Amino acid sequence: MDLKLNDKVALITGASRGLGATSARLLAKEGVKLALTARTKAELDALAEAIRADSGADVLPIPMDLTAPDASEAVRDAALSAYGRIDILINCAGASQGGVFWEIPDRTWAESFELKVMGTIRMMRAVIPSMIEQKYGRIVNVVGNTGLQPSPRLIPGSAANAALLAVTRGVVEDLAPHNIVANAVNPGPTRTERWITLMNRLAQSSGRTVAEVEGDYKRQIPRGQLAEPEEIGGLIVFLASDKAANLTGASLTADGGWNKSIG
Ligand SMILES: NC(=O)c1ccc[n+]([C@@H]2O[C@H](COP(=O)([O-])OP(=O)(O)OC[C@H]3O[C@@H](n4cnc5c(N)ncnc54)[C@H](OP(=O)(O)O)[C@@H]3O)[C@@H](O)[C@H]2O)c1
Repeated sequence: MDLKLNDKVALITGASRGLGATSARLLAKEGVKLALTARTKAELDALAEAIRADSGADVLPIPMDLTAPDASEAVRDAALSAYGRIDILINCAGASQGGVFWEIPDRTWAESFELKVMGTIRMMRAVIPSMIEQKYGRIVNVVGNTGLQPSPRLIPGSAANAALLAVTRGVVEDLAPHNIVANAVNPGPTRTERWITLMNRLAQSSGRTVAEVEGDYKRQIPRGQLAEPEEIGGLIVFLASDKAANLTGASLTADGGWNKSIG
């Protein structure tokens, strides 16, 4: 299927690894020009080099801490000055910590909201005016199935995800007349560095093995296994394409059947 993404420009946050990096690789294969942001310059540079070698795509690495004031405007400006437009915004940056609810300090809550919720909101706010001007935009927020079904050991991330689902649905009426759509992808457990780190931390804090902690999650997934990053990346690419043009305000949950809601 031709997704007609050739020559489109995508700005991806949280792009140095995990779901952001996977989406970048997949979009590059579709001919998309990339602006990639995360904090670690070395990782971004290495990924950019690998993508260029693999697909010949244009890749602009923009090292930036999205929790810093004005970071989102700086990222947008760098992408616009390189490419002249941003067609697709994919918000993937996020790193919530888990734990037992009454042991989680304010700092963990603040960090979760500062990066994932405010990082996404600021990035959308920075990029939307140029999308309105060009009468075209595709926004994909990588959220998480815990936004629909809070997980007892991942409550800060669950709350951040619920907030982002509200934001993603909330902007629809204002954006649709400008040919801009906004959708969310809700992965369940997916084998990225983030997940591996999370399992290690939960195992350490509970005195159990990683296999035992991960087993608790797998048992709740009817498919019985974690997703691979490419399985989520494929959905992100679909939502970034015009094949999904009539879909807006939607949240696509890809969690192996864990979430049971039908609404
Ligand atoms: N993996 C899962 O099981 C899963 C499930 C549901 C939802 N999700 C969501 O999907 C998104 C991506 O997850 P992932 O598993 O791909 O995570 P990941 O592998 O840990 O990647 C996170 C990305 O965010 C960047 N980042 C972290 N802090 C940042 C900051 N302050 N400023 C800018 N960039 C920052 C990281 O790069 P630097 O460290 O270099 O900055 C990295 O590129 C997250 O929002 C996560 O909550 C993941």
